[in-house]
Amino acid sequence: MSRKVLADYNGYDYKKIFWEDADREYEDAADRMAIRKLLPEKMGEFADLCGGYGRLADEYLSRAKHATLFDYSKTELEQAQEKYHGKLSTVAGDIYEMPFSDGNFDAVMMIRATHHFEHLDRAMREIHRILKTDGVAVVEVANKKTLPKKIRYILRRSKVNPYSLEPQKIDGYNIINYHPKYVEKVFKEAGFKIDKVLSVSNFRSGKLKKMFGTKRLIRMENRAQGGLLAKMRFAPSIYYRLIKI
Ligand SMILES: C[S@@+](CC[C@H](N)C(=O)[O-])C[C@H]1O[C@@H](n2cnc3c(N)ncnc32)[C@H](O)[C@@H]1O
Repeated sequence: MSRKVLADYNGYDYKKIFWEDADREYEDAADRMAIRKLLPEKMGEFADLCGGYGRLADEYLSRAKHATLFDYSKTELEQAQEKYHGKLSTVAGDIYEMPFSDGNFDAVMMIRATHHFEHLDRAMREIHRILKTDGVAVVEVANKKTLPKKIRYILRRSKVNPYSLEPQKIDGYNIINYHPKYVEKVFKEAGFKIDKVLSVSNFRSGKLKKMFGTKRLIRMENRAQGGLLAKMRFAPSIYYRLIKI
């Protein structure tokens, strides 16, 4: 691999530590319902970019004629191969230099990965390259202008200015949060049209989980993802359906 990645998941059990050992049923369900709303019903060649261990494979395997899971981490790819052997192809590589030919895919998705990129513009140009014209990219972005982040900033509990358009590296973590206006400019400059936007994980809060219970929050989330909250770019995760023009 030619370039050092910001977050190297080699040797890290993302599946167990981040998902199985943590209370994230609501976040997982929120991701899945957004993907169901945004991915085309039928796809030819499809790629799950930075797809990790294939957490979301069940959401696209029945829709795609052929699916590829692409990721930098051999640890993640091995777990994906173990579970989905014969059902999808796994390919290792760096998002900035993907080993796919121009116009190879009808659709791709990239979930919970842009917060690891120092060069979102380069990643988006590379995704544009590997898609067919009119191809679909479903891309999730970590939002820096959420309500809790605004409150923390106003109360001077955080120095992260949620109003500035600059990407923000979160202290102590290898994570970058983005202002929606910034990413939308990057998408357009890379050659995409923004077709649909969803506000996702609107109720991501330990307190709300305790108050309402996960099942109820999941039902509320399904209704909240579109409409006004999407227009406001409200949630910590913003999902985009992009079309290559
Ligand atoms: C938070 S995980 C998300 C995995 C999956 N999309 C999901 O939602 O479960 C981020 C993934 O991005 C991968 N990744 C990070 N930087 C990368 C890069 N430059 N090229 C390829 N994959 C990368 C990591 O190896 C990791 O598997």
